[in-house]
Amino acid sequence: MNIAIIGSGYVGLVTGVCLSHIGHHVICVDNNPQKIKALKKGRMPIYEPGLEELMHECVIKRRLKFTGSIKEACQKSSVIFLALPTPPKPNGDADLTYIENASREIALNMDSYKLIVEKSTVPAETGKKIRRTVQLNLPKRFKDGNKILLDFDVASNPEFLKEGSAVQDFMNPDRVVLGVESKKAEKILREIYKPLKTKILVTNIASSEMIKHASNSFLATKISFVNAVAQICDRVGADVLKVAEGMGLDKRIGRQFLDAGIGYGGSCFPKDVDSFVRLGEKNGYDFGLLKEVRRINETQHQSFIHLIEEKVWNLKEKTIGIWGLAFKPNTDDMRSAASLKIIAQLQHEGAKVKAYDPKAMRNAASILKGVVLCKDPYSTIEDADALLLLTEWPEFKEVNFIQVRDSMRQAVIFDGRNMLDADKLEDMGFEYFGIGRGRL
Ligand code: UGA
Repeated sequence: MNIAIIGSGYVGLVTGVCLSHIGHHVICVDNNPQKIKALKKGRMPIYEPGLEELMHECVIKRRLKFTGSIKEACQKSSVIFLALPTPPKPNGDADLTYIENASREIALNMDSYKLIVEKSTVPAETGKKIRRTVQLNLPKRFKDGNKILLDFDVASNPEFLKEGSAVQDFMNPDRVVLGVESKKAEKILREIYKPLKTKILVTNIASSEMIKHASNSFLATKISFVNAVAQICDRVGADVLKVAEGMGLDKRIGRQFLDAGIGYGGSCFPKDVDSFVRLGEKNGYDFGLLKEVRRINETQHQSFIHLIEEKVWNLKEKTIGIWGLAFKPNTDDMRSAASLKIIAQLQHEGAKVKAYDPKAMRNAASILKGVVLCKDPYSTIEDADALLLLTEWPEFKEVNFIQVRDSMRQAVIFDGRNMLDADKLEDMGFEYFGIGRGRL
């Protein structure tokens, strides 16, 4: 199939490269000329394990191209995936300007059948709006009064991949959801995903859009639920790791997404929960449950800070070393990362902050002000009054903790991800504090 992907961010690049890898001819579009230039030179602008290697392979096989022109992409493809940003507006609504503009440009450049597929997360009913925008903007030669003379389809095919394991998730999905309005669109999309040999669920566009809303919000609910449980664990002397294990053994609950921590971040959950709450409001439903999920998430880092204040005492002039800045491991992405809120609060209280992340240092340099960025975990904690682990990168387990203990001014660890071995560290002479470990 000849496929265009409009928007070369995380979702667009992973989708484009992976669709090309499974045999399709793909052209990725972006309106940022620097990005397209870098991609054409073989440089991947984001860090995602395995993606750059796969991109090189597909380019060599001549199945993957990059362009700044929607017109060129439209002319060369019959299926067009929209993988554009939908940033939140101040009131929580998703800003769909990019989607609207791209839909208009596609319409202006259409001269044969096209299937336009929503891939990035969009609010329910966006499919209808795309169809209307395309109809309104089609060249006059394809209209006869109210009649549209050019056949096209709109579909919804939400992505469920996680940053850090996106290639793996794309190639081995739990399911592929197709929201379609015609047999023709269904047939094309089934053909595209045939090589993946996975469960395909076909529904209408509105249900497909709702599946994405509901899935992300449910996962966010699981996280906030276990974070609330962790708060009580600390108060009653229970260990949330054991509680999550015990709950997770029940197959109806499952162990995944029950890791208590400093709250969920990233470009999806915070925005998607907001947008689902707004969708309810607009349609006369108060989604109080999700509002509480959001409130728990927004206060989770505050109780972490309170714990630090209680144990480190006055933060003014104290040196705090931070391991991990990305919103989760295996990515360089710091969008809505819990680390940002925690660092801002520490700085507000007059602490000196030093930080290290295995992949996010370039982003950190452009986002963080007044933070000493260090080259490795050890230099980050030299003379520190406390170490904060904020992203569970596996390499932090491999650190020589004797060396860490001896370089710190006070051997105190706050493990915001419950990643380290508390007993071992306490035996070494550290004071260790996790989230909901019942050790306060
Ligand atoms: C999420 C979903 O998991 C994907 O299925 C979806 O496709 C994607 O959003 C999207 O809509 O594009 P992602 O944001 O990449 O993926 O990352 P997750 O692995 O879901 O983690 C999100 C946040 O939750 C991270 O900050 C992570 O640290 C936190 N988290 C996750 C927890 O605090 N506890 C957990 O048990 C799991």
